[in-house]
Amino acid sequence: MNAPMDQFEKRWTAGREGFRVPYEVFTDRAYYDREQEKIFRGETWSFVGLEAELPNKGDFKATAIGDTPVIVTRDQTGQIRVFKNRCAHRGALLVRELRGNTKSFDCVYHQWSFDLTGALRGVPMRRGVRGEGGMPPEFDMANFGLDALRVEALNGVIFASFSSTVEPLLDYLGKEVVDTIKKIFNRPIRIMGDQRQYVHGNWKLYAENTRDPYHGSLLHLFHNTFGLYRATQSGVSHMDASKRHSILKVVATAVPASESEDKEVYKDVRSYNTEFHLQDPSILAGRKEFDDGSTLIINAIFPNLLLQQIANTLAVRQSVTYAPDAFEIVWTLFGYADDDEEMQMIRMKQSNLIGPAGLISMEDGEAVEIVQEAVVRDGQKTSLLAMGGGHAENVEHMITEGPIIGFWENYCRYLGIISRTAE
Ligand code: FES
Ligand SMILES: [Fe+2]
Repeated sequence: MNAPMDQFEKRWTAGREGFRVPYEVFTDRAYYDREQEKIFRGETWSFVGLEAELPNKGDFKATAIGDTPVIVTRDQTGQIRVFKNRCAHRGALLVRELRGNTKSFDCVYHQWSFDLTGALRGVPMRRGVRGEGGMPPEFDMANFGLDALRVEALNGVIFASFSSTVEPLLDYLGKEVVDTIKKIFNRPIRIMGDQRQYVHGNWKLYAENTRDPYHGSLLHLFHNTFGLYRATQSGVSHMDASKRHSILKVVATAVPASESEDKEVYKDVRSYNTEFHLQDPSILAGRKEFDDGSTLIINAIFPNLLLQQIANTLAVRQSVTYAPDAFEIVWTLFGYADDDEEMQMIRMKQSNLIGPAGLISMEDGEAVEIVQEAVVRDGQKTSLLAMGGGHAENVEHMITEGPIIGFWENYCRYLGIISRTAE
């Protein structure tokens, strides 16, 4: 199963010109398989849901960590539990709905029944029929529960891990990510709904995209044309101490950039077009919500979560992998339980900014796909990450690719790849 290490090591380089990533990492099945083992089923915490999605006892949702299907449920005592979504009999997918409420999980194949703690409670025909057949006397139902994962939640954000040795969630996240989650989930939330976006590309291209403040004001016409985010605004590009997570933040400044400065910076940029006007500018008429003045936060949490605050849109985006060239982004949009009616309408209207067809995020899925399409036969070639100096370091601006390098350094560490240092 494991390809020899040196197969993975040949083309990674960190040199003076920048950090280079071989394109085969986006197309080669051997990388994909190793990621499932070492990252998604390894020493990490993966996002699986929000407690607000499971308000009642018996509520459940089906999701996946990497490509391993899992069930998230709230048991009869109110405890959140996460199991592999795989029947202990012959391996069938146990839960086939996306979500629901139940007293037990009953496998469709031979009707084995599991309670909400994952314990096996019923086996049809266990003692045979009319004295014939049945399970052997040695069969002990206690040995056939569902595979449980470790679960920890922070302010209602649920993470699960296959590892019994991974550090506690708060240590894994680091202080700045913990503070960001606490800031956004500062009071009970109300789920607005999900959007699902199937992307014909590798999940790591999206991990790059969401750690890439450099593209934000270039790719997205809406961002800079309507001033939601321009490189002339002040921002920060931070990582946690391990550099696997990133926090990109735009802060409303006391001294906004002048129109002439914007024009100078964007004079050659296709997506900066002052001729465009909104027919209905109310989409941008939001409310100031957070005391720290942040107008945009993109917090990528390794390996599968993105937490965002863009104006008044709040959302989590979960990446679910299917294959080297296929993954899905599951967007869950939310507001606060105490939002007044006007605030609910603001969030509803601004939700047009994000999601698969969002005015400022539709280009990201496309960016992933055009890379995938172009590199498919050029696995030996490499990309270049150099903007900002070619190092993973925290900076107080957004003209950098540093957080992407932080992602790749961790990726190499998890997979056991040693990148060469080029002189
Ligand atoms: S595979 Fe589930 S009951 Fe047989
Ligand atoms: Fe983007």
